[in-house]
Amino acid sequence: MRSLPGHTLNDGARGATGTLNPKEIASRRSVRLPVPSLDVTTPASQTYTLADGHTIPVLGLGVWQVPDGPECVKAVRWALEAGYRHIDTAQAYGNEPSVGRAVRDSGVPRSEVFITTKFYPGSKDPVVEAEKSLERLGVDHVDLYIIHWPRGGPTWAWPSMERALELGYARSIGVSNFSVAELNDVLAIASVAPVVNQVQLSPFEHRRALVETNQKHDIVTEAYSPLGTGRHLSDKTVARIASHVGRSPAQVLLRWCVQRELVVLPKSTHRERIVENAQIFDFTLSDDDMAELDALDRTGGTDRARESKWW
Ligand code: A2P
Repeated sequence: MRSLPGHTLNDGARGATGTLNPKEIASRRSVRLPVPSLDVTTPASQTYTLADGHTIPVLGLGVWQVPDGPECVKAVRWALEAGYRHIDTAQAYGNEPSVGRAVRDSGVPRSEVFITTKFYPGSKDPVVEAEKSLERLGVDHVDLYIIHWPRGGPTWAWPSMERALELGYARSIGVSNFSVAELNDVLAIASVAPVVNQVQLSPFEHRRALVETNQKHDIVTEAYSPLGTGRHLSDKTVARIASHVGRSPAQVLLRWCVQRELVVLPKSTHRERIVENAQIFDFTLSDDDMAELDALDRTGGTDRARESKWW
């Protein structure tokens, strides 16, 4: 386990908080325990602890642009079979029913799967929309509910997000596509602070100032489009590093996110890619590799969540 500045990375052998007090350690030493299952190749065993005490798996399957129906059901099923324990959907994606069906049919207990959905800010009320999401997903709560983007301003929806939390519709609440300025606006009015900020993030879109601000407020940064929706896979630097570490370009880009202490949400509907994208916990990029990847940033270390907004 490593201690991170903003949050804690737990391994599967450590339980929910990832920390043991000296008494616990002593009592564990005095008992003959089976060999700890420190299986670093299992993505499900890697979690961060959020500011509210809940844990979030480092790796999640993103299902943006995956149509509701068999394609989505299969992708989620394959991900769960490959060890993913985190699925990231949204009201705007229109595929919550397939996500819910795949989780139910998988045989993996609901309590072991971390489900995120996002409030579509073209609607009026996060509480009302959360109720509809729960119905579509067929679950009694989601693990994380986030404002999809700050349409109409960053603060108006937050009190109702807090209400959704209070009602138990979500275990944790957060935001997505929020810049530092927008985050500060929310923090100024929040009774409960957001625990994640999900943004487009990769070595090419590093947004260092935004990530640092998130860390300062104990907000976990989640990386969506970590492969640049596929565009970054053919980059020469990424390809060179991939070939010298003996991994694929996708695995290098995803591993960069893990080593930068981000939650990483690659999207794929192909089984072999879903499996490949999970095999990122059994190798390490050197400091030199990381520095070379860092140098690819085209945002100038921005504190903004997007270069161009769609809202
Ligand atoms: P597909 O869904 O057809 O497998 P991002 O996660 O940045 O949004 O990128 C998703 C895009 O990258 C999708 O087009 C996806 O294609 C593709 N992709 C995902 N994983 C891999 C992989 N391991 N190798 C090649 N392409 C991938």
